[in-house]
Amino acid sequence: MVNPYLPLPAFRRRDRARARMAELIMRIIAERRSGAAGGEDFLEVLMRARYADGRALSDDEIVGLLISTIFAGQHTSTVMGAWTGILLLEHPHRLSGILEELASEVGDGEITLDALRRLAALERCIKEAERMHPPLVMLMRRIVRDFEYDGWRLPAGDLAMVSPATAHRLPQVFADPDRYDPDRFGPERQEDRRVKHALIGFGGGHHRCIGATFAQQQIKVIWTVLLREFELSLATTGHRPDYATFVVGPRRPCIVRYRRRRSPLTATAPPLAGARRQS
Ligand code: HEM
Repeated sequence: MVNPYLPLPAFRRRDRARARMAELIMRIIAERRSGAAGGEDFLEVLMRARYADGRALSDDEIVGLLISTIFAGQHTSTVMGAWTGILLLEHPHRLSGILEELASEVGDGEITLDALRRLAALERCIKEAERMHPPLVMLMRRIVRDFEYDGWRLPAGDLAMVSPATAHRLPQVFADPDRYDPDRFGPERQEDRRVKHALIGFGGGHHRCIGATFAQQQIKVIWTVLLREFELSLATTGHRPDYATFVVGPRRPCIVRYRRRRSPLTATAPPLAGARRQS
């Protein structure tokens, strides 16, 4: 985003990786054009899409849109899923509540959309992970015309940035913001609704993430499956964000102990001994 064409090794690796991905996608497009079955995936949607004037997307546009969607959705979801789990395992008292919710709302049954909707406590934990560790810490816009905001003059051509990571730690918006407290999103407090755009891990306004609901459901499914099948605890502590990457995940190492659950989840399942709480 900032000076993306500097001759840096990481940027060269990025360009090589993109060229390789483009090659793979182009090959699939060619196969489908020559009659291979496509199914109902997003690539197929892009291949069939038409502009208002009836023009089809060029192969280059298809590749660009597909790569940007994968980029927008894959690493971000991985990171938010990881933080959801880390924070839960760091707070065993919270984890036991989640296990009880899973036992009562999903049990051994099929993970249906309805069951996922009932996982309100897990949803609050995902939101708290979004608040404390938003995967995108900086959202940017190119300023197209001069404007003023709060006494500041912002000239056309500059970059305007907003940081969800900073905004989510404002004490005037979120009470005791450095504390892990998923209940802040409960019906009594709803701290994310007190001011507009309080929780912006998925952005806001016209360009708010189109994949937010999908991502949240996906993270719910991942943790439902993992917690149902395994007893988990953290083998490492003190997890901090790694700001060296654009999508900010937990710094490594970040190791989890796991053991297959011997008995199905019950409403009183205790967490695996050894899980430690972090202040
Ligand atoms: C936890 C996972 C995710 C996070 C944290 C996340 C975060 C965001 C944020 C902050 C924005 C706004 C960017 C800006 O204002 O500059 C955004 C936009 C977007 N996201 Fe996501 N996203 C996630 C998952 C997904 C998924 C799964 C998809 C697709 C299936 C997706 C597709 C998009 C697209 C296409 C946009 C651009 C929307 C627009 O410009 O109108 N995202 N996302």
